[in-house]
Amino acid sequence: MKLSVIGCGYLGAVHAAAMASIGHEVVGIDVDERKIDALSSGEAPFFEPGLPEILSAGIASGNLRFTTDIAEAKGARVHFIGVGTPQQRDGDAADLTYVDAAVDALLPHLTSGDIVAGKSTVPVGTAAQLALRVEATGATLVWNPEFLREGWAVQDTIDPDRLVVGVSDASTGSAAGRSGGVSRPSTGLGSAGGSSAADAADVLREVYHPAVTKGTPFIVTDLATAELVKVAANAFLATKISFINAMSEIAEVTGADVTQLADAIGHDARIGRRFLGAGIGFGGGCLPKDIRAFSARAEELGRSESVSFLREVDAINLRRRERAVHLVVDAFEGNVVGKNITLLGAAFKPHSDDIRDSPALDVAVRLKGLGAEVTVTDPEALENARRQHPQLNYVDDRDEALRGADAVIVVTEWDEYRRELSPEHAASLTAGTIVVDGRNCLDAAAWREAGWTYYGMGRP
Ligand code: UDX
Repeated sequence: MKLSVIGCGYLGAVHAAAMASIGHEVVGIDVDERKIDALSSGEAPFFEPGLPEILSAGIASGNLRFTTDIAEAKGARVHFIGVGTPQQRDGDAADLTYVDAAVDALLPHLTSGDIVAGKSTVPVGTAAQLALRVEATGATLVWNPEFLREGWAVQDTIDPDRLVVGVSDASTGSAAGRSGGVSRPSTGLGSAGGSSAADAADVLREVYHPAVTKGTPFIVTDLATAELVKVAANAFLATKISFINAMSEIAEVTGADVTQLADAIGHDARIGRRFLGAGIGFGGGCLPKDIRAFSARAEELGRSESVSFLREVDAINLRRRERAVHLVVDAFEGNVVGKNITLLGAAFKPHSDDIRDSPALDVAVRLKGLGAEVTVTDPEALENARRQHPQLNYVDDRDEALRGADAVIVVTEWDEYRRELSPEHAASLTAGTIVVDGRNCLDAAAWREAGWTYYGMGRP
């Protein structure tokens, strides 16, 4: 099928390449010329395992190309919108400028029968508003949220754990505006709209044929539910992490060990161990801004109390970064001025070069602000980190970064630090033997045995 993907960032570039890899003819479109040049020559503009391979294969096969010219979207059956929805500069709500611009630019090139499939994470009610504009051209708008995790984005796109398609309820005109309104709940394809809505869902089934054939759950619902599925999933994940981090805070005043606590409660299948990793908390381009945007939207809808817990989730998360800084400061009896502190990690999580709202860099910047000499290393994210925080010292080589350090903090749990760095080897390079394990990913006993003073998060 001919597809266009508008927006070639972490979401769109992967989507375009993944769709080409399953046999579609795809054009990826972005306003950023540098990004398009890189992608056109088969280069991924960011680190994502597996992406360079499917990019080059797609380009070589002729199934995949990139352009800055939106007119080249013409002729595609489905147009995916995958532009960013960052947090507004002066508030918590999502900035929809890029979504609005992408749709406006696309409108003149739509043909009756086309499908516009929104993938960006948007406040509930956005899709219904966009549908009015899109459907005036004879095209159909659906909302098809994306659940990919950075670092596993290629696999998550080709083989997702579920597919969700929201279609507009043409028969009831249940479009809920951005400023309010209630959509009629839908129980499935039959009640989700007229025949064009059903057809649109079928076209999406065809787009995702390998996953659909495999039996991946394919949920057809209304636009509002589809938009909410995405923010609800991220709100739940953020809450799970902050829950365990709240338990960390209690563990810290009682001498309990939050990692054992997480193991023990995680054996309960209703709870599960995943996303119970206590540490310096969540960051990245999604969870932090999505919970804030959700709170802002709930407020607009007059339901702020329904998600007021998300403010607490955010606050707990930010407190853990502060806690990691305190552990270091306390280890130096209240004064880190002039201390050489090495941070292992800069990315918001391993297998990514993404530093958006990275807890790792937040800790680094705070320590620098307290007068420490901060050195940061990371296998992939240094270039991005250097650009954003030029005041820090960056060293590519892990061992060079450790040399002469008075203290070491693990802030991103790359294998290079958690598995491949022996405490004996680290001690042979550093000047001091204080280690703060901001991700609870080191073998505490082994590090203590090697002479280190080990501090975990929520661990005795
Ligand atoms: C998230 C969602 O998982 C994904 O479904 C959605 O599409 C986009 O947002 P991502 O931002 O790639 O994906 O990262 P994720 O793997 O969810 O991790 C988010 C943050 O939580 C990272 O900073 C990670 O270090 C932190 N985290 C994760 C914890 O602190 N503890 C955990 O147990 C798990």
